[in-house]
Amino acid sequence: MKEIKIKITKDEEYNIYIEKGILSNLDEYLSKIIKNKRVIVITNPLVNSLYGTKLLSTLKKGEFSTDFIEVPDGEKYKCISSANYLYDELLKRKADRSTGLIALGGGVTGDLTGFVAATYMRGLSLVHIPTTLLAQIDSSIGGKVAVDHPLAKNIIGSFYQPKAVFIDPEVLSTLSDKDIKNGIVEAVKIAVIKSPDFFKWLESNIYQLLNRDIDILCELIKKSVKFKVDVVLEDPWETGLRKILNFGHSIGHALEVEAGYQDLSHGEAVALGMLIETKIARNRGICSDEFEEQIKYILAILYSSQPSRSKESKSVFKYVRNIDYNRIWETLTLDKKNIQGKIRFILLRAPGKVILIDDINKEEVIKALEEF
Ligand SMILES: NC(=O)c1ccc[n+]([C@@H]2O[C@H](COP(=O)([O-])OP(=O)(O)OC[C@H]3O[C@@H](n4cnc5c(N)ncnc54)[C@H](O)[C@@H]3O)[C@@H](O)[C@H]2O)c1
Ligand SMILES: [Zn+2]
Repeated sequence: MKEIKIKITKDEEYNIYIEKGILSNLDEYLSKIIKNKRVIVITNPLVNSLYGTKLLSTLKKGEFSTDFIEVPDGEKYKCISSANYLYDELLKRKADRSTGLIALGGGVTGDLTGFVAATYMRGLSLVHIPTTLLAQIDSSIGGKVAVDHPLAKNIIGSFYQPKAVFIDPEVLSTLSDKDIKNGIVEAVKIAVIKSPDFFKWLESNIYQLLNRDIDILCELIKKSVKFKVDVVLEDPWETGLRKILNFGHSIGHALEVEAGYQDLSHGEAVALGMLIETKIARNRGICSDEFEEQIKYILAILYSSQPSRSKESKSVFKYVRNIDYNRIWETLTLDKKNIQGKIRFILLRAPGKVILIDDINKEEVIKALEEF
């Protein structure tokens, strides 16, 4: 078992547990965290059908009183009306401050549950059981919780740390190819901003990852979590350094808004965002042609390595052709990273060499979108 301790402040510290099969054995750990043995699991119908029974039997083993609440599947349900629905359901079930909330699902479930945990009665104990690769390596780590607004992604949110994160790589066996790739995209992001060695490791293991080699996936999870934890610990409230984790996310989020939180997944949008932001860096002479090729190469493998993937990849890359570039610019003006009207981007000079730019202009963004 890999156990990573994350200490945010003197009084705020928790563990991230990474182990195959931990979903069936987390009752003992949970008993130490949720003292009154009352938990409510927030999930979606698909994840509930796959893993609800297993989690329920673990909770029964630990003598927890348990309720499940489902929210429909999809990014468009990571919104304030779903949060409202959950507040209603928690009240109906008389959830109080000693009730624990468990997020069982991908990043959408984790962000939404986290947001509700942070706000209901000014805070309930939160536990993440991330079930997508993206959620295991990225979204369940670091305490950012949020819901989307139709005009801006993740714009209503908070920082709210969980009491524990339980990562079971075995649940990835049921994940779609598309969601394996979505997770790898965030790993590429973490690697490229933080560690040239990790980036090289990804380049050499990309096919094993796509083929779901479980040991390589476990290694990927451990490496990604470690690097994300390093960044979070240096800047838990994103006042400075942590902003680097937003590489690819300025354009990526704008594309998700443009897609109405449908048709384009978060991972796909971030892949496009990293490519377009790298094009901006290239046009400014910040990075080399070689670096642009490196990023393109690894993302192209993701989106064209198997015959069944070629259709997906076409639609992902094509997406940028049929959108309104002026609207993308307008959405960028609402980005959370902006300060006093200045649009901020995270750009890369090379793997591990990040810079923050706050004089991005409309012409260069549109040029990069057109060239793409
Ligand atoms: N809070 C953060 O720091 C942070 C970081 C990165 C991303 N995010 C957020 O994460 C979200 C994206 O998360 P995601 O990619 O996990 O999407 P998601 O939660 O929509 O999950 C993707 C799909 O996988 C299904 N699924 C989940 N687990 C499964 C399993 N084990 N087997 C089969 N299917 C399974 C889900 O039902 C869904 O259809 C975005 O909203 C993004 O903004 C947040
Ligand atoms: Zn992301």
